[in-house]
Amino acid sequence: MKKIPLFLLTTAALIFAGCQAPVENPTVSSPSNVNSIEFFLDASGSPYYRVKHGETVAVDSSAMGFDFQGQPPLKSGLKILRATERPFDETWEMPWGEQRTVRNHYNELLVELEETEAPNRKWNIYFRAYDDGIAFRYEFPAREGVDTLIILDENTEFQLAGDHDCWWIPADYDSYEHLYNTTKFSEIDAIAAGARNSLGHTSIPQNAVHTPVTMKSGDGLYLSFHEAALTDYASMTLKVGEAPLLMASELVGSDRFGYKVKRALPFRTPWRTVQIADKATGLIASRLIVNLNEPNVLGDVDWVKPMKYVGIWWEMHLDRSKWDYASGKHGATTENAKRYIDFAAANNIGGLLVEGWNTGWEYWTDPVKREGVFDFVTPYPDYDLQEVVRYGKEKGVELIMHHETSASVETYDQQLDTAYALMESLGIHAVKTGYVGKIIPRGEYHHGQWMVNHYRRVLETAARHKVAVNAHEPIKPTGIRRTYPNAIAREGLRGQEFNAWSNDGGNPPEHLSIVAFTRMLAGPIDFTPGVFEISLRDKPNNQVNTTLAHQLALYVVVYSPIQMACDLPENYEGQPAFQFIRDVGVDWEQTLVLDGEVGDFVTIARQEKGTGNWFLGCITDEDRREATIDFSFLEAGKKYRAAIYRDGPNAHYRDNPLDIAIEEGEMDHNSSLSFTLAEGGGLVISLKRVE
Ligand code: NOJ
Ligand code: CA
Repeated sequence: MKKIPLFLLTTAALIFAGCQAPVENPTVSSPSNVNSIEFFLDASGSPYYRVKHGETVAVDSSAMGFDFQGQPPLKSGLKILRATERPFDETWEMPWGEQRTVRNHYNELLVELEETEAPNRKWNIYFRAYDDGIAFRYEFPAREGVDTLIILDENTEFQLAGDHDCWWIPADYDSYEHLYNTTKFSEIDAIAAGARNSLGHTSIPQNAVHTPVTMKSGDGLYLSFHEAALTDYASMTLKVGEAPLLMASELVGSDRFGYKVKRALPFRTPWRTVQIADKATGLIASRLIVNLNEPNVLGDVDWVKPMKYVGIWWEMHLDRSKWDYASGKHGATTENAKRYIDFAAANNIGGLLVEGWNTGWEYWTDPVKREGVFDFVTPYPDYDLQEVVRYGKEKGVELIMHHETSASVETYDQQLDTAYALMESLGIHAVKTGYVGKIIPRGEYHHGQWMVNHYRRVLETAARHKVAVNAHEPIKPTGIRRTYPNAIAREGLRGQEFNAWSNDGGNPPEHLSIVAFTRMLAGPIDFTPGVFEISLRDKPNNQVNTTLAHQLALYVVVYSPIQMACDLPENYEGQPAFQFIRDVGVDWEQTLVLDGEVGDFVTIARQEKGTGNWFLGCITDEDRREATIDFSFLEAGKKYRAAIYRDGPNAHYRDNPLDIAIEEGEMDHNSSLSFTLAEGGGLVISLKRVE
């Protein structure tokens, strides 16, 4: 007899108990009946939901509830007052993005609940069924005599239907800069994974993962759990395994205040989301997260300009120069900035980031002295801010401002208005912010409610001054860019910089093949691709673990409206492959996710807005593989001039990363070609329409 594992029996028993005598089962299906959500109360009046994809259970019966300060928990003794369904279908335009128009098509179910006994609290849950996933959020209505709710715990469960393959990072309350782990759900060990990283500061209090966390079920269903519209609330991490195959929300709290969330009534929580797809590529194509956000509140944002940029940046990570003036190797000098501006102007690159331009860097990593020292308006003596801006404008290159806060957030808050007013007065329309270190005020975490509100305050202040924000050490993206389209990009992952200095061998070749199906589902990524001097001669113990063709492919595969050409100008000079970076677009009419498997490879084609040109990128992990590209996405009856950049015959990310073959040809929509990608390799093709 086949033995049934004990944990499966326990799950079955739990679910059976949960299913007893449901009062009513309002159900909502997605527009094409692909996904459905069923809501029910068990015999004790506890709420549950269950998600199906066709006949397959995507999320099994899962409970919902809250613990509060000064009030009984909300989790049982409920009755359904009303269940109302509402269809919705709109098409909206992205001011910049992966595609010009987005269809937001769903059916919504509003379930209004009330406690059957005193205090007879009311509680509403909105469910939305989309063809590419589902979402739900809670609403706490106004209540006589209660103005504020203090949430000690949100207990939203996600009961998995099997021991799925998972791609996850530990739920570090201060960082997303971890390498992805690939394990079965039952093997997730966030504490052990946290201990393996080379980060300066981490806070991983329990076995929980960050979102988006992506999974593949035994029967080949792809699921990604995340949240949308994270506003005035704490970030949701997912705690693993309090019962078999169970994940439950664990909000990032505040040690200062001892709670997770404090909100005035009435309010709605962020959406809890599950993207669902039959193929891995469907996850990347899904626009669920942005669709769940409110429309643009900023109106016309023609000052937000998608662009490529260079920076006085990589040279610091290579230790060639320094951020601080006292080092004697100060990188942000007027002269150096002009050198980069000349390079950008000559190479179709619209922006220049200058880090280390302002006073305060002497103390930025000092645990004590870093408070109150950064100044966001005063340049070091060898940097003439006005002159750099003027010179850039003359050459058609915009300055991107830099604000490293060293996580001294109150110091930054105090200067926000002045700092952004300075930018507006100089006609600077973009800033890169940074939050390295433990948050000051102490007791707050990067991903708690207080910081969520800080990041939003920065976006709002920036918008008032017509500035777009690229946040590093950010709060994770949850689609807020729809509402605030000045949220152009953010870091929120282990970026390229780790390849320059991490002591764990750098990002492995599979890194971006996982990121594309996890972090990238949340929103644009400032990964800073484009290292050409891959073996890093300045850093004998470090190397970038990709081929050159893979670096090029990242401009297409990793979505961001701002893309850095991160290497030093001298490393690009005379390099034929650099032509691809000159040519590649940054703003897209449409995006097609052609092929891919999580952690193995991914192929994406994007059509540039305005020109109709296509750019195709493909990356692989540490395995060599064949990629067959079918060009039927090209417009029928048109010819395209193709420039192909592929791994050379001897390319290998470790031993021979620079072996690249560049070919030209003509392509049309009947073309189909096979390519070999090297270990850690890639492929890019630019396709310009022949008029
Ligand atoms: C961390 C950021 O990710 C990096 O890009 C930046 O150079 C440093 N902080 C300094 O601000
Ligand atoms: Ca960082």
